[in-house]
Amino acid sequence: MTASFSETAYAKINLALHVRARGADGYHRLETLFVFAEDGDQLEAEPAGQLSLQVTGSFASPLLETPDNLVLRAAEQLRRAFGIREGAAVLLDKRLPVASGIGGGSADAAAAIRMLCRMWAISPDEPALARIARDLGADVPACVVSRAIRGEGRGDELLPIDSAGLSGLPLLLINPGVAVATGPVFAGWDGRDRGPLGRGDPLTAAIEGGNDLESPAIAIAPVISEVVRLLVMQDGVALARMSGSGATCFALFRDLASRDMADRAIATMRPGWWRLKTALR
Ligand code: C5P
Repeated sequence: MTASFSETAYAKINLALHVRARGADGYHRLETLFVFAEDGDQLEAEPAGQLSLQVTGSFASPLLETPDNLVLRAAEQLRRAFGIREGAAVLLDKRLPVASGIGGGSADAAAAIRMLCRMWAISPDEPALARIARDLGADVPACVVSRAIRGEGRGDELLPIDSAGLSGLPLLLINPGVAVATGPVFAGWDGRDRGPLGRGDPLTAAIEGGNDLESPAIAIAPVISEVVRLLVMQDGVALARMSGSGATCFALFRDLASRDMADRAIATMRPGWWRLKTALR
């Protein structure tokens, strides 16, 4: 029997995101607190002669039109860097909405790196992996780690944080069904530096901070303000706001019962919105 490998592309959430400046390279300098959900897209792979990718799942269709998938690019970069001759038959089950501020392609690419390193016996400590991850996207290095971590620079300079109070917190993700491209949201930033993100307890720093991309994202997709408003007013919410460049919004809850009650309330009010009941890993 052929050995098969699997990985979860854990959904990425930015608890807070401060845009500090626009760099000469067009990328923005930011400070963010990345955390990850227990759930995400699912990847599987089997050894094969060639590289191939099959995409399934409720959110597969937007990806079928673009052959330039980040999972395949990650696999090709690994083969080139480490002289791998074998291929892999990769299956991506797309469970999270695409272009939605919770990692998507970045988390998929990072999961592919973790999975194919196991399949091709590449040590996760290989220095070339950091460069490959960075070249695939600013969020990819954090998604490779997939544990609470602080991001600076383009989001790819990683600093450890004390995540003891975060792990296991009940989490609800809501997407109103609008795809929002990252580039235009960053381009809509008003250029005002609102200061650094606190360096103390991460949840306190996140609550005291904000997401500077929320306003430009709302200008593109006004429904986001309604999602945030509905989440903020639920009982037992510790923090609710938009993640990344949107449109997915999150709420952290003090207990599971409050999360489940909020999920039911929003399902009744907005049955068309995508929801995921999960927890921080
Ligand atoms: O790195 P990634 O390909 O995920 O970024 C997508 C787009 O988001 C970039 O092309 C850029 O327009 C914007 N971006 C940015 N500053 C960052 C990260 C992303 O302007 N720090």
